Amino acid sequence: MRAKKYVLKEEDMPRKWYNIMADMPTPMEPPLHPGTGQPCGPQDLAPIFPMNLIEQEVSTQRWIDIPEEVLDKYTIWRPSPLYRAYELEKALGTPAKIYYKNEGVSPAGSHKPNTAIAQAYYNKVAGTKRITTETGAGQWGSALAMCCSFFGIECKVFMVKISYNQKPYRRLMMETWGAKCTASPSSETKSGRSILEKDPDSPGSLGMAISEAVEVAVGDKDTKYALGSVLNHVMIHQSIIGLEAIKQMEMAGDYPDVIIGSAGGGSNFAGLAMPFARDKINGKNIDIIAVEPASCPTMTRGPFAYDFGDTVQMTPLLPMHTLGHNFVPAPIHAGGLRYHGMAPIVSQLILDKIIRAESVQQLETFKAGVTFARSEGFISAPECNHAVAMTIREALKAKEEGKEKVILFNWSGHGLVDMGAYESYFGGKLSDHELPQAQIDAALKDIASLPKPRQAT
Ligand SMILES: Cc1ncc(COP(=O)(O)O)c(C=O)c1O
Repeated sequence: MRAKKYVLKEEDMPRKWYNIMADMPTPMEPPLHPGTGQPCGPQDLAPIFPMNLIEQEVSTQRWIDIPEEVLDKYTIWRPSPLYRAYELEKALGTPAKIYYKNEGVSPAGSHKPNTAIAQAYYNKVAGTKRITTETGAGQWGSALAMCCSFFGIECKVFMVKISYNQKPYRRLMMETWGAKCTASPSSETKSGRSILEKDPDSPGSLGMAISEAVEVAVGDKDTKYALGSVLNHVMIHQSIIGLEAIKQMEMAGDYPDVIIGSAGGGSNFAGLAMPFARDKINGKNIDIIAVEPASCPTMTRGPFAYDFGDTVQMTPLLPMHTLGHNFVPAPIHAGGLRYHGMAPIVSQLILDKIIRAESVQQLETFKAGVTFARSEGFISAPECNHAVAMTIREALKAKEEGKEKVILFNWSGHGLVDMGAYESYFGGKLSDHELPQAQIDAALKDIASLPKPRQAT
């Protein structure tokens, strides 16, 4: 019988996270204070995050110990299996070998608990009583809700309104794990009210929901804010995906020529890719591709600039690829990819040509998801289908070129709570979105007066 799954034992799970900031060819530019425009010190972040996470955010230590309490919770779903996608290879008739890391095995259904559990733990240690956050499609909010419940912390989630209406079961998952979930923009916060005044029918965006969550955290000393992607400490926690994958690829006797992940804020992509990117920095030849929606083309059409992480300009300015904090993406079903910015780490690695970015249209992603489901069985989340679509493109390219390439992608989450999106797809109700340059230019006007990073594009 051929091996289809490469499974590590619990004792083989990595005991340290990897921090690529120790190895990046170009050091990262610092975040800037939203008021003064000067580099942010740890104290500037203290109203939002606990100090132990702030220390990780600025750390350049290569290896960071994973606390015992976090390892203990990780074993609920980790190590996650690596699969060889024989049936997808057959369906495509490709000579490529396709592998995928299955992060959909966590209780919340995606990679998001890998950082949620770490963030809940560090907040608990720091004495935080309540955590606020934003969520797009609900994967992050449900992951944090579960992890807060493990550590007895209250959880308050602002969920982007369009997704709140599209995915009622995600809200119910959050409530089952004890969190309170509000559709954003809401009338509960000053920022929400100011957005609703201008546009009462706003579908919401991650940038808006972040503003609401940060506002609530800043207003209460026992409350902190948690972000499910973008920031350095999130990328560090997600590195466990790639560290496991390195061991599993060794078990399979292969090494990837191509690595693929979908990218909303960049965390599942970076989590898989960073430990391999280290090999690339040290001379390996790997094509590492971050995939985004054509309707929210942060990396492929947005400049590298300083921008706010949220709509109402409360967060520090981050050096990143961005479409501008006022950019509101089309209401595609991949809610977790509707973000105007990109992780500074991912953005810097693009500038340094360690990784590259591609975009795909919505219909191609669903077509790919259906092909994957009918061959491999698993039904992917709409976000994850972006990685599946790019994998199929690369596998078909390998077929054209007659090359036996090894492709590894991150299967970041299942879509069992996203069946409404599949229903719309089967009913012919989904469309592609051509994003006019004028819309991007208009949103970028709002960042024209902000400070520019050294490497601005
Ligand atoms: C299943 C899944 N994949 C990918 C993403 C994109 O986020 P990130 O780029 O942080 O991995 C999300 C975000 O919600 C998600 O739920």
